[in-house]
Amino acid sequence: MQTTPPVALVTGASSGIGRAVALALVDAGFQVVGTSRNAANAEPLAGVTFLDLDVASDESVRALVEGVIDRFGRIDLLVNNAGVGAAGAGEESSINQTKNVFDVNVFGTIRMTNAVLPHMRARGGGRVLNVSSVLGLIPAPFMAIYAATKHAIEGYSESVDHELREHGVRVLLIEPAYTSTGFEANSLAPDSPLPVYAAQRDVSREVLATAMRHADDPAVVAKAIVAAATDSKPKLRYAAGSTATRVSVLRRVAPPRAFDKQIRKINRLAG
Ligand SMILES: NC(=O)c1ccc[n+]([C@@H]2O[C@H](COP(=O)([O-])OP(=O)(O)OC[C@H]3O[C@@H](n4cnc5c(N)ncnc54)[C@H](OP(=O)(O)O)[C@@H]3O)[C@@H](O)[C@H]2O)c1
Repeated sequence: MQTTPPVALVTGASSGIGRAVALALVDAGFQVVGTSRNAANAEPLAGVTFLDLDVASDESVRALVEGVIDRFGRIDLLVNNAGVGAAGAGEESSINQTKNVFDVNVFGTIRMTNAVLPHMRARGGGRVLNVSSVLGLIPAPFMAIYAATKHAIEGYSESVDHELREHGVRVLLIEPAYTSTGFEANSLAPDSPLPVYAAQRDVSREVLATAMRHADDPAVVAKAIVAAATDSKPKLRYAAGSTATRVSVLRRVAPPRAFDKQIRKINRLAG
């Protein structure tokens, strides 16, 4: 029988969604390790131990997970939250930039998952919660590279979840809609901008800025994550909040032609 509180590891806990998640997990009774690429500079959070992590580095991931196991003895919950946005048309990001975004959002998630799984399998239990996005379900013109990373997370998570259930481990998806954080400010600008896309790129930036003004509070995502971490019968997908739920339902039930038209209208694309 478990006598000490369960241990949660939250990547990218220095700001935004990760910070709200770390706090909510402390309130839910977890011992929480939060990570940042610069843990010494992370604003302290009561009940959260901050450690260094760059999810794009094999060595950093190995050292972090080993450190947590040495200190806490186990990892019951991994929240793969660290991520970076990328704006611009698909053609405007070099392959190098595209690889860098995948290295954080996709390979970072896979690196972390692979590093914790041996410990979870050995204990016969654990949960991995991957922070996807509604942009993992629907197209995102002028955020194509970012949307591609979140679609990849969807396919990866749903597949490994089937592999791991018999080992007592679940891999679940959290799907936030636009959430009020530093995400937009921290998003990468395209490194190979093309004049042909400049006007529509500006429109898309405005569309995103407007959406961000009505964005959910990070606490909405934190609530979904606590539910995914603690539900006795967890669901594969947790849409975070009412907007995300609406998008997810529409994606499944709306006729493709109508859905396509709506995407063009929302993004103010001609035709
Ligand atoms: N905000 C939204 O509208 C929204 C919507 C749907 C999904 N999401 C997803 O939610 C997650 C959190 O984003 P956010 O909105 O909270 O944005 P944010 O405030 O920019 O937070 C991103 C976090 O990721 C960490 N990070 C970035 N690169 C990293 C790396 N190489 N290694 C380790 N950590 C790294 C940052 O930590 P350090 O800089 O301290 O290392 C930071 O704490 C992301 O996966 C994002 O895609 C966001």
